[in-house]
Amino acid sequence: MSAKTITVSLKVWRQPAKDQPGRLVDYVARDISTDMSFLEMLDVVNEGLIRKGEDPIAFDSDCREGICGACGCMINGVAHGPDPGTTTCQLHMRRFNNGETIVIEPWRAKAFPVLKDLMVDRSAFDRIVAAGGYISVSIGGAQDANGIPVPKADSDHAMDSAACIGCGACVAACKNAAAHLFTSAKITHLALLPQGGPERERRAVRMVEQMEAEGFGNCSNEGECEAVCPKLIPISNIAKMVREYTRAVWKGVGV
Ligand code: SF4
Ligand code: FES
Repeated sequence: MSAKTITVSLKVWRQPAKDQPGRLVDYVARDISTDMSFLEMLDVVNEGLIRKGEDPIAFDSDCREGICGACGCMINGVAHGPDPGTTTCQLHMRRFNNGETIVIEPWRAKAFPVLKDLMVDRSAFDRIVAAGGYISVSIGGAQDANGIPVPKADSDHAMDSAACIGCGACVAACKNAAAHLFTSAKITHLALLPQGGPERERRAVRMVEQMEAEGFGNCSNEGECEAVCPKLIPISNIAKMVREYTRAVWKGVGV
């Protein structure tokens, strides 16, 4: 059975480089199979632009199976588009109607400057992780991991928090451009495991202070981050992060 095809109008943010003005440019994506992913549709548009000698639309992607966190853009004003719990690369064109107009923009946040078109610089996330999102104490070898009991509820919660792929949709969706969901997922993941315990307080202080230094906003509990997160990370992680940070500060733990 042949796949259904649709034709959609696109309004795509084109910006030649950082610190240069951008604008929405109109394109038509013709005869797009509804079995295509959203990024495959952009690939088709780009092939047409290349054939005409025009600059293709720049966007990030890598795994295209929802696990790496490289992709992401605002689709009709929603981070990663209309399907809950779905990355841009896993969104399919069957979700759109023939003749529909789709507005495609980059993440917009001061801490995520646009590099080109739909690509933004998310190295601020790398610096938050570098500030403390790791375990540097000796925790033994592989056999020791099997010998340290972890309560099932804690291991499940840690695993759920570890599912964060660092895509940045939470920041893009937040009216304050806060990075609390991302940072709290990393802090919670490590705080719940015995191996993360020795550096738990210093980690919370360092990561939260780096998050603030990067220029992300504060959390006002809107919940927009949770609503768009492709990995369904809950905002209860943010409460955990605030407890971790506050306890460390009360104890006088410095960076
Ligand atoms: S918390 Fe969710 S939305 Fe934010 S970076 Fe992680 S996976 Fe992406
Ligand atoms: S390209 Fe890896 S999550 Fe989308």
